Amino acid sequence: MLQTIKAQKLSFSKIYTNTIQNCFKKKANQFLNQNLNFSTKINEIKKEAKETTKETTKDKTKEKKRDSKSTAFDNGRPLYFDFQATTPVDPRVLDRMLPLFTEKYGNPHSRTHAFGWEAEDLVEEARKHIADLISATPNEVIFTSGATESNNIAVKGVSRFLKPSGKTHVITSQIEHKCVLDSCRALENEGFNVTYLPVNKFGLVSLDDLKKAITKKTALVSIMTVNNEIGVIQPIGDIGQICKQEKVWFHTDGAQAIGKIPIDVNKMNIDLLSMSGHKIYGPKGIGGLYVRRRPRVRLEPIQSGGGQERGIRSGTLPAPLAIGFGEAARIAKMEMKRDHEHITKLSKRLWEGVQKKVPKIILNGHPEKRYPGCINISFSYIEGESLLMALKDIALSSGSACTSASLEPSYVLRALGVEEEMAHTSIRFGIGRFTTEKEIDYVVDSIQKQAERLRKLSILWEMAEEGIDLKTIKWNTD
Ligand SMILES: Cc1ncc(COP(=O)(O)O)c(C=O)c1O
Repeated sequence: MLQTIKAQKLSFSKIYTNTIQNCFKKKANQFLNQNLNFSTKINEIKKEAKETTKETTKDKTKEKKRDSKSTAFDNGRPLYFDFQATTPVDPRVLDRMLPLFTEKYGNPHSRTHAFGWEAEDLVEEARKHIADLISATPNEVIFTSGATESNNIAVKGVSRFLKPSGKTHVITSQIEHKCVLDSCRALENEGFNVTYLPVNKFGLVSLDDLKKAITKKTALVSIMTVNNEIGVIQPIGDIGQICKQEKVWFHTDGAQAIGKIPIDVNKMNIDLLSMSGHKIYGPKGIGGLYVRRRPRVRLEPIQSGGGQERGIRSGTLPAPLAIGFGEAARIAKMEMKRDHEHITKLSKRLWEGVQKKVPKIILNGHPEKRYPGCINISFSYIEGESLLMALKDIALSSGSACTSASLEPSYVLRALGVEEEMAHTSIRFGIGRFTTEKEIDYVVDSIQKQAERLRKLSILWEMAEEGIDLKTIKWNTD
C-alpha cells in the first residue's frame, strides 16, 4: 500500500514538474521569440555600421516607402524609447533566471537541505556581481524590492537612527525622484528639518550651496547620481568628498546610473547607494542598497521581520529576481563600454537630426554632464501631450513614469527655471542597449512630420513666425 502511494506521489510530482517545465518552456519560447529582435538587434547594430557606409539610393527609396506598419512597429508594437521608465529583460538574464522557477526553487534562507544551499549559493554569486559593478564588497549589498524601497530605507533609516543623537537635519536636492522627496516629507512630519538644494539652469547642484547647508545637526546628504528626466550627472565624487570631510553620511540614488556610467563607491566616497534591477535589463521587483561597512553606516530598518539581509531588510529573498539582477549587473559591467559608445552615437544622431529638422527646440539639462541615453527636448509652441499622442507608434514619455498621470509640468524642469510653457512641451527620449540607427532615423522623421503638422495648427506659432514677441502680448483673461 505504502509503495503504491509512494509510486503515485512520485508520478504526480513528475507530471507536476513536467507540466510546470513545459509551461515555462512555452512561455520562455514565446518571450524569446518576441524578444528575438533584442538579441538580433545586437548583431544588427554591428551590421548597421557597415551598411550605412554602403547605403545606396536603393535603401533611400526603401526608406521613403516605409510606412507605420512595416518598420515603425516592432512586431506590431510601438518602437520603445522609454528606457528610463524600464528596460526589457535581456534574454541572457532570463536564461539565468528560468531554472530558479523550475528546478532550483529552494528558499535561500533554508539551512537544512540542498535546495536551500543551492539557492543561497546562487544568490551570493549574484550579490558579488552587483558588488563588483560598484566596486563594493558583497556583504555591503542588501537586496530590496527596488530603488524606491532602497531610497526609503536609506533616507528614513539613517535619519531615524541618528535622531536621538540630535542629528535632525537632512539635505537633498529639488530634482530628486519622488520617493526621495516624499521620504524627506515624511521625515519633516517627524520633526526633521530638510534643505532642498536648488539646481542651476543645467540641473546641477552647487557645491558651495551644499557646504553652506551642512550643519552640526546634519545626519545625511542625499543627492541622486543621474537624473531620470534630464539625464544630468551630479558631481558625485566632489559631494562625497565634502560629506566625508564634514563627517556626514552620503547617500545617492543610483537607479539611473549603475551599469551605465562607472561607479566606484570608495573612490566617490559614497556611503549608501540605491539600485534597481529593471533599469539595467534585469527583472522588475528587485533592487539593492549598498551600505558601507567601514566606517559602518548604521540605520533603523523600516520593515520588521526575520532579520534577513543583515537585519536591514527582512523578508524571504526572491531568489530568481536576485539572480536576474546579478546577471544583469554582470553583463552591464562587461558591456558598459560598448553600451555607452553605442548609446552616445545614437544619442548624437537623434539630437543632431532633430536639431537639423525642427527649429526652436531646447535640450533640457546639461549639454555635456549628462547620461547620453536620456534626451529631454522642449518643442516650443507644441503641447507635449499632443506630440506624444501624434507619435503614437513610438513609446515615449514626457518625464517620470511616476508622475506622468499628472498634467502638471515637470517639477524637475521647473527647478531648472524652464518656463511653464516650455516645461509643458517637453518629451523624454530614452535610448538603450537594443536601440538601432534605423529606429533613431524613424523617430527623427516622425518628429519632423508631426512637429510641422502641430505647429501649422498653432496660432502662437504663426504669430511667432510673423515676428511677434509673444511675451509683449497682454492676453485677455476674462
Ligand atoms: C532615479 C530613480 N530613482 C528611483 C526610482 C524607483 O525605482 P524602482 O522602480 O526600482 O522602485 C526610479 C524609477 O523610475 C528612478 O528613475
